[in-house]
Amino acid sequence: MVSHPDLLVGNDTGDDAAVYRLDKNTAIIVTVDFFTPITDDPYEFGVIAAANSLSDVYAMGGKPLVALNIVGFPAELAVDMLGDVLKGGYDKAAEAGCLIVGGHTVDDAEPKYGLSVVGLIEPGKEVSNANAQPGDVLVLTKPIGTGIITTGCKQGITPDDILKNAVDVMATLNKGAAEAMMRVGINSCTDITGFGLMGHLRGMTRGSKVGAIINAPDVPVLPGVWDLLEKNVVPGGTFRNMNGVEDSVDWDESLTDQQRLLMCDAQTSGGLLISVTKDKVEKLLSELEISGVETRVIVGEITAENSGRILVKA
Ligand code: CO
Ligand code: CO
Repeated sequence: MVSHPDLLVGNDTGDDAAVYRLDKNTAIIVTVDFFTPITDDPYEFGVIAAANSLSDVYAMGGKPLVALNIVGFPAELAVDMLGDVLKGGYDKAAEAGCLIVGGHTVDDAEPKYGLSVVGLIEPGKEVSNANAQPGDVLVLTKPIGTGIITTGCKQGITPDDILKNAVDVMATLNKGAAEAMMRVGINSCTDITGFGLMGHLRGMTRGSKVGAIINAPDVPVLPGVWDLLEKNVVPGGTFRNMNGVEDSVDWDESLTDQQRLLMCDAQTSGGLLISVTKDKVEKLLSELEISGVETRVIVGEITAENSGRILVKA
């Protein structure tokens, strides 16, 4: 564990990004993320990877400032294919008001792309995943199920319109959601990515030393996900996530295996999970609407009891 007087958020809370204070008005947020292609379209891959990388800055309540490309690409693949990936990244970063100012590419049999992002926040305003308070309400800002849909895509069975909708959701920046939560003032936030809703919420409960309740029927789900689950389309990462949270999740007995797996589905560029005081939740929901955030759903609450544990109700 690294510690320093100006390191406001380090790696001890499993937070989305680190926060380092430069002076009393300015702190930088630093983060890195990259992954392998999730759809066949190189431009789309670049867009989603960039949105996903920028998300960790938004989850901390910050504004992305500059970023560097991180690229692994097979030398024999067409150069313009890499050009399309990078173009997608540049376009999405531009939408975020973030400049991509360089990067590094290595020869790699399996393509990989992402960004290392530097963002800005006023010291003390940073939003950690480790400050959820008992009685808080949990609000989620994107539907889940992208892991199942993209796995179905790799198997050739996800319908085109279902995939297109999921791509639009993954490509959506968490900018509006972050700006809304910062206008309201909330207690804690994390973005939902590879560890799924359960894994990232577990990080929040552990970091905050609280428990949580999730109402499974309230959790927003992308169209097409249930059909794919019926066909047993589940990414390997989702099974790993489910095993990984086994020791800290109490499932209602009536929940099916499919429902449980969905709660653990590995997300790409998922939404923000925001923990907000009960008396501010209406304000948060209306600010999210003003920011154009389409999904804004109360999915559960934070409890004093069952520290580090999640109860999932049916
Ligand atoms: Co994150
Ligand atoms: Co991340």
